Amino acid sequence: MTSVTSDRTTRKSACVTGGDGYIASALVKMLLEKGYAVKTTVRKSDDLEKVPHLKDLQALGPLDVFRADLEDEGSFDDAVAGCDYAFLVAAPVNPNTENPEKEVIELAVNGTLNVMRSCVRAGTVKRVVLTSSAAAVSDRPLLEGDGHVLDEESWSDVDFLRENHTIGWAYAVSKVLVEKAACAFAQEKGISLVTVCPVVVVGAAPATRVNTSVLDVLSLLSGDDERIRILELIQRASGSIAMVHVDDLCRAKIFVAEAEDEAASGRYICCSLNTTGVELARFLAAKYPQYNVKIDRFSGLPEKPRVRISSAKLVGEGFEFRYKTLDEIYDNVVDYGRALGILKY
Ligand SMILES: NC(=O)c1ccc[n+]([C@@H]2O[C@H](COP(=O)([O-])OP(=O)(O)OC[C@H]3O[C@@H](n4cnc5c(N)ncnc54)[C@H](OP(=O)(O)O)[C@@H]3O)[C@@H](O)[C@H]2O)c1
Repeated sequence: MTSVTSDRTTRKSACVTGGDGYIASALVKMLLEKGYAVKTTVRKSDDLEKVPHLKDLQALGPLDVFRADLEDEGSFDDAVAGCDYAFLVAAPVNPNTENPEKEVIELAVNGTLNVMRSCVRAGTVKRVVLTSSAAAVSDRPLLEGDGHVLDEESWSDVDFLRENHTIGWAYAVSKVLVEKAACAFAQEKGISLVTVCPVVVVGAAPATRVNTSVLDVLSLLSGDDERIRILELIQRASGSIAMVHVDDLCRAKIFVAEAEDEAASGRYICCSLNTTGVELARFLAAKYPQYNVKIDRFSGLPEKPRVRISSAKLVGEGFEFRYKTLDEIYDNVVDYGRALGILKY
């Protein structure tokens, strides 16, 4: 552990798992800015020279970094101990594994329960906020016709995914089974659990290496055909490309964590807007003409979303999105992509 002495007793405290990752790095930053004492975990090394963004974040407030692996029972105990909130963000997200049933699905379920057992042992955690995904909501046979709205009642179809091996099937299955296992465990142990299901996440974060949605959302600018194909498959499979800014996602996670007692419960979809490849290509071509966006790349696909993923529950409980348009959502991710070397200047 790399330790920072702090006035922990006077601050609210939170554990964020997977602090070297994209979303978790943004959440750690936001919690520190809000005055929290934060503990985070990294899988490979707690040598802060190897995760420089976490070292930099220590300037914002008390941040302790622990090494923990979802595969190692009990390895999250020290990171969770004494915390008021636990934000479970770390998860296997790599689709290119040889044995997805074991390396994605089994690992995600067992790893989540592993962290939740640490929360039980800690005895201080008031609420666990689990990061699921819209992949647990919308990956199912595409609905006929237009105008569909998917809310928290919608679940991705595990049997369909396992039979058809559509893109990212194991990840989607893992998210459904993690949510269900976490919910059953929380009920059995009397833990307050809230699950957030983000759509595709966009925006700058402190992490200096990304291998996730940022590559997808910048693909039309970077010309990365493999990642453009992912956008196309998302639209073909789910009927829209739904997006949220990483700052809004982190604000939403803190919002549901801090909600009084039972005010927040169950699942919360976190989605600012639903768009399509056609709309996205037009927007990016107009705003960033220097990147030669292939404007007709999605021709033949519907111009408007056929399905909308809805955050009405979150908004209905008082949450307000700050980034609502493509222009706002893309406001800082292009500079982030340039700084990371994903995009040319
Ligand atoms: N980005 C999106 O658009 C999006 C949308 C919906 C949901 N999500 C969810 O948000 C969470 C964070 O995703 P992200 O986009 O920030 O991806 P990311 O940057 O790849 O973060 C994933 C994190 O999980 C950690 N991890 C993976 N396997 C682990 C293991 N066995 N033990 C401990 N840590 C492990 C990774 O550590 P290493 O660096 O060591 O691999 C990394 O810190 C995930 O739960 C993901 O499913 C993301």
